[in-house]
Amino acid sequence: MSDPRLLVIPKRLAGVKKIYPIMSSKGGVGKTIISTLLALTSSSLGCKTGLLDLDFTNPSTHIVLGVNPWEQEIIEEKGIIPQLVHGIKYLSITIFTRENPTPMRGEAVVNAFRELLAITQWGELDSLFIDTPPGISDEHLELLTYLGDKLEVVIVATPSPLAIKSVERLAEILLEGNYKIAGLVENMSDKPKLQKLAENLRIDYLGNIPYVKDIDEKIGNIELLRKTPIWEKVLEIVNRLLGNK
Ligand SMILES: Nc1ncnc2c1ncn2[C@@H]1O[C@H](COP(=O)(O)OP(=O)(O)OP(=O)(O)O)[C@@H](O)[C@H]1O
Ligand SMILES: [Mg+2]
Repeated sequence: MSDPRLLVIPKRLAGVKKIYPIMSSKGGVGKTIISTLLALTSSSLGCKTGLLDLDFTNPSTHIVLGVNPWEQEIIEEKGIIPQLVHGIKYLSITIFTRENPTPMRGEAVVNAFRELLAITQWGELDSLFIDTPPGISDEHLELLTYLGDKLEVVIVATPSPLAIKSVERLAEILLEGNYKIAGLVENMSDKPKLQKLAENLRIDYLGNIPYVKDIDEKIGNIELLRKTPIWEKVLEIVNRLLGNK
């Protein structure tokens, strides 16, 4: 066994029923906001929910949650216990790095991933949502390889012609590797335009989220986010994802 942490990770995740990494080939399509809202809406339905920020270079779920990294507690008890934030168990590399930039080479990313997952005690969770950086790189390959059969990838895309090819590529990689795809979320789109694409790829279409022009003013304030059409749509999507509809 090359890395003993790989033996520990499945034990640490033993109480987690489903793991949903949020992925996209392209950057800036809304993974961070959607993964955070998926976690919050899932928790609002009474499900035990976790959120892990795996974007080591540019962690930003704490901004959506309104969490100050300098005030994040590190709760240690036979490892690290994720902090409870707005009812969800939340973990980001920012508990260690605060707001310091952390450029990492591939090997350091792999180490950070394994260390974080080997030391974290998630306990019992119905769903763990994972925000990831754009593309498919070390973080994704690690999680696809080591997080096992509880994984269901949520793909996020915008309806731009520039996105189509990259969604096809990502889906192809995942399907070829026999990874389960929970479905496609179309963001910043007032009408569903990617249904046909999802159909052609034989993946579920989970829904479209409209473009909300003043969303940036609401980021960091859950009460304000709750009143937006994005929240409403993500709630529909999470119901579909969790099999309630
Ligand atoms: N439905 C939406 N309506 C309006 N603006 C949106 C919407 N979804 C996301 N945005 C905005 O788009 C920008 C990118 O969103 P976000 O950071 O969530 O994308 P990302 O895919 O996580 O980006 P990266 O690939 O850099 O991690 C943000 O300014 C966000 O507020
Ligand atoms: Mg992001």
